[in-house]
Amino acid sequence: MIEKSLVIVKPDGVERGLIGEILKRFENAGLKIIGMKMVWIDRKFAEKHYKAHKTKPFFKELVEFITEGPVVAFAVEGVHAVDNVRRLVGDTSPHEAAPGTIRGDFAHISMAYASKKKSGGKNVIHASGNKKEADAEIKLWFNKDELHSYTTVHEKHVF
Ligand code: PPS
Repeated sequence: MIEKSLVIVKPDGVERGLIGEILKRFENAGLKIIGMKMVWIDRKFAEKHYKAHKTKPFFKELVEFITEGPVVAFAVEGVHAVDNVRRLVGDTSPHEAAPGTIRGDFAHISMAYASKKKSGGKNVIHASGNKKEADAEIKLWFNKDELHSYTTVHEKHVF
């Protein structure tokens, strides 16, 4: 039941100064940050990260958006981490994301609007969609020695 998931604060989130606010939400929920880095990824890496969406009509915009500035990637660990992270993040389209979620609180555009504008869909954050995706994404973004094992107080009080 203890899982790992990958979170990326996208270029819009970094430029808007939301790194701390976003990190705080995961820490508040007791999820353990086990790896973290700021990187400016290139097109080749972005295409690998989004390879499942290669055939989608917005693939080019998606890759352009994630490579337009630095991102902060972090790996989190916790009970049902994949689902719990997605709940904190909210629906993919900020327009449908509930208030209280990261996307619901910090964005409001719809993906229909993004398509019309031919933009990458500024939704502040990425989170792995399922366990298989999470494992593959963590492997892509982090070397083994960049992931850490330690004990948090949450393991006594929250887990
Ligand atoms: S998901 O979260 O993978 O189930 O959602 P999906 O709808 O398949 O979206 C995959 C990623 O594409 C982004 N997206 C879009 N970008 C631009 N225009 C449009 N219309 C659009 N629709 C979806 C969406 O934000 C997903 O990227 P991440 O990084 O996961 O947010």
